[in-house]
Amino acid sequence: MMKSSFQAINWTGTSLELLDQRRLPQEEVYIDFTEAGAVAGAIRDMVVRGAPAIGITAAYAVVLSAQQHTTTSSGNWREPLLLDIQQLAAARPTAVNLVWALERMQRRLSRSGDTPVAALLDEAKHIHQEDIEANHRMGEQGASLINEGESVLTYCNTGSLATGGYGTALGVVRSAWAVHKLVRVFAGETRPWLQGARLTAWELLQDNIPVTLITDNAAAFLMQKKQVQWVITGADRVAANGDVINKIGTYQLAVACRYHGVKMMVAAPLSTLDLEISDGSQVTIEQRPEAEILEQAGQRIAARGATAWNPAFDVTPAALVDYLVTEAGVIAAPDTAKLAAFQPARSTS
Ligand code: MRU
Repeated sequence: MMKSSFQAINWTGTSLELLDQRRLPQEEVYIDFTEAGAVAGAIRDMVVRGAPAIGITAAYAVVLSAQQHTTTSSGNWREPLLLDIQQLAAARPTAVNLVWALERMQRRLSRSGDTPVAALLDEAKHIHQEDIEANHRMGEQGASLINEGESVLTYCNTGSLATGGYGTALGVVRSAWAVHKLVRVFAGETRPWLQGARLTAWELLQDNIPVTLITDNAAAFLMQKKQVQWVITGADRVAANGDVINKIGTYQLAVACRYHGVKMMVAAPLSTLDLEISDGSQVTIEQRPEAEILEQAGQRIAARGATAWNPAFDVTPAALVDYLVTEAGVIAAPDTAKLAAFQPARSTS
């Protein structure tokens, strides 16, 4: 099993260590956390990002909270712990993995009595490990759809940095590369945070997988030139009808794919499915600060007086998705009926 040479999320035994993704690829700096409130801030500020990764991080933050409050709040630890959980849940609104992981931690808490730390840590470690295993299963299944000699365009960062390890869409790329199916891997830069240029390129090169970056606005031309047969992305949430909520720009890639006959694959674990919402229009799309577009590294780049619209995610209609790859199987042309059949397989422990 191919393993990453770095661990973006580490439980040290008493604290949580996160690789600061804002500083990659220039610097590999870890920040140590002992309080859940600080972890909520780190999720909001993109120290850690990517749907499964923020869920796993929040799960460990619940352990930190229990550790702190059971030792300092003399018997009345439940209230501050629940406040911490609320704060973590509010850190970023779009990825369902965050609330999914927190709800799972709360269910474990409700069964754990007055000394919950060991049980919560056990649950967080399970969430982490299950995600890695799901990624490897998705990797194999997604790679099996790809023909030898094909090339892919991936988007944002969906690798070990964005998950428990290995990756969703990037897991598929890794698996397909490992069996020599891929000729070329393209990655979109992913404005404004440059997850593609900074993080995906860094990860792929660590695995000796050559990567060619394109600007986000070069994607349709790349397809017109028949340079890729696939676009492979992850998801932050998949609605019951198969609508995919993912990094802003995914929708325009899917539209361009359909026009050019390029296949669109979305790799997402069951923890990313939100069967409680009927379609993507019901999802809160995170709006991020204008400064992320108007400035670069603290320096104004846009003309003074310009404003910016900065949604972090968009909604790709299910009709534009050719394959939804989960650890429980591949759904071709996803729709409500096919997704409903997956419901029992979701982990609810
Ligand atoms: O804003 P980010 O970097 O957290 O957005 C991440 C994405 O959109 C990923 O594609 C998504 O989380 C799914 S893959 C792990």
